[in-house]
Amino acid sequence: MNAYINRPLLYVSLRHDATRCRYLAQQGWQLLFANNRRDLEALNLRDEPVLGGLLDLDCGYSDTELEELEPWLARQNIGWIGVVGNGDMLSDPMRKLLGLYFVDYYNIPCDSAELAHALGHAVGMANLRPAATLTRDALRPDGMIGNCPAMQGLFRGIEKVSKWDTPVLISGESGTGKELAARAIHCASRRAGQPFIAVNCAAIPPTLLMSELFGYERGAFTGAVKRKPGRIELAHGGTLFLDEIGDMPLESQTSLLRFLETGCIERLGGTESVAVDVRVISATHVDLEAAIAAERFRGDLYHRLCVLRVKQPALRERDTDILLLAEHILNSVRGHSPEHIKGFSPAALRALSAHTWPGNVRELINRIRHAAAMCEDGIIKPADLDLQPPVEPSHPPTLAEAREAAERCAVKEALQRNHERLIDVAEELGISRVTLFRMMREHKLQIRKGELGMVCVQG
Ligand SMILES: Nc1ncnc2c1ncn2[C@@H]1O[C@H](COP(=O)(O)OP(=O)(O)O)[C@@H](O)[C@H]1O
Ligand SMILES: [Mg+2]
Repeated sequence: MNAYINRPLLYVSLRHDATRCRYLAQQGWQLLFANNRRDLEALNLRDEPVLGGLLDLDCGYSDTELEELEPWLARQNIGWIGVVGNGDMLSDPMRKLLGLYFVDYYNIPCDSAELAHALGHAVGMANLRPAATLTRDALRPDGMIGNCPAMQGLFRGIEKVSKWDTPVLISGESGTGKELAARAIHCASRRAGQPFIAVNCAAIPPTLLMSELFGYERGAFTGAVKRKPGRIELAHGGTLFLDEIGDMPLESQTSLLRFLETGCIERLGGTESVAVDVRVISATHVDLEAAIAAERFRGDLYHRLCVLRVKQPALRERDTDILLLAEHILNSVRGHSPEHIKGFSPAALRALSAHTWPGNVRELINRIRHAAAMCEDGIIKPADLDLQPPVEPSHPPTLAEAREAAERCAVKEALQRNHERLIDVAEELGISRVTLFRMMREHKLQIRKGELGMVCVQG
């Protein structure tokens, strides 16, 4: 009986060898046939887990056709095995593709059993790649990636608050994805088809913030040649996202509070009161309660803004998600890179996991972009990411080391138990006093009387 049944296998060729197909099917492979890239796309394999891939390079593909297959060959979740006519006759594009993407290749005539065995290995190798764990749950339509318990908790929070129309405050360190979360809430809410207007309160000079938020009438100030609606008004019907709300000057805070209480704004230089229907989502990386205590933030505004709360986890709290995100970011960088980037070295993956990420996902994106430009041979190493190589785990002890450690421990404990009486120690250990002295010397164990006559064994 075959242990594997229905393992998906892409068989890409212009002519599918019937004997080979029969054998592979008997071995538990579920064959998915494709002649070219169009056929592969028609298979609609977006959410498939890891699969095997068999590419026949002996069936007469043109260089262009091979080139078109490259994005499929580069997929992390497919383990590719090639079949080639004659090793010496390989064209340059074939050599390149085989070297970059294939786990192995075989010359024809090749043994089907050998091929089936190699495909099993290729799938095993694909399974080891971090991106292979990028499952349906981790890749969400709103572009947020996360599989870890902290992110699953965040996604549940987003789902709950998006059913309400009350203000939400998103807290979290800089670069954790607060804006992404705000957009996700908007897109899952009943206001989804309406505008989402973001205002970064830290990026707009305080003197301009009022006119940006509330708009102005013609002639309100020098240069106000015509009426301009503010961002609050532009968000009518939709969501207003106030990013870095902790940096909003007190003057604007007072006007914003008035708007939240009345649902109406007045443009600068105007007298007309305009009713605006928006849902407010705000975000901050600062501790607003401390800002209130320091009188930099209005307590009454704070209570208006944080009817519902969402806390964005820091990247260092997301364990395996760091590698998921890294692989996802690298995939998007690959598309713009003039060089071919194969992936992260094992040391780089460990360095990514070990770093504490004070700048969170934004820092991760920047380091990977930098590494993609700097790396050599297409492999990203810790130095390319500007990270320290991780401390390698020490190797497990050899038998000799384990014996020595056990011997030292037994002698030390016997010395302590028997209060320096070496005759008793030797007897307890079943060795002569001469042997005991030798062992104590070898293990650097010394006896010295403590102040209260207690024996301290040092070493
Ligand atoms: N969970 C995530 N999945 C994918 N990309 C993310 C995630 N979190 C953050 N990012 C990306 O990180 C960058 C910073 O996110 P942003 O929302 O601007 O952070 P913040 O507003 O908290 O400073 C953006 O490019 C964003 O797309
Ligand atoms: Mg932000």
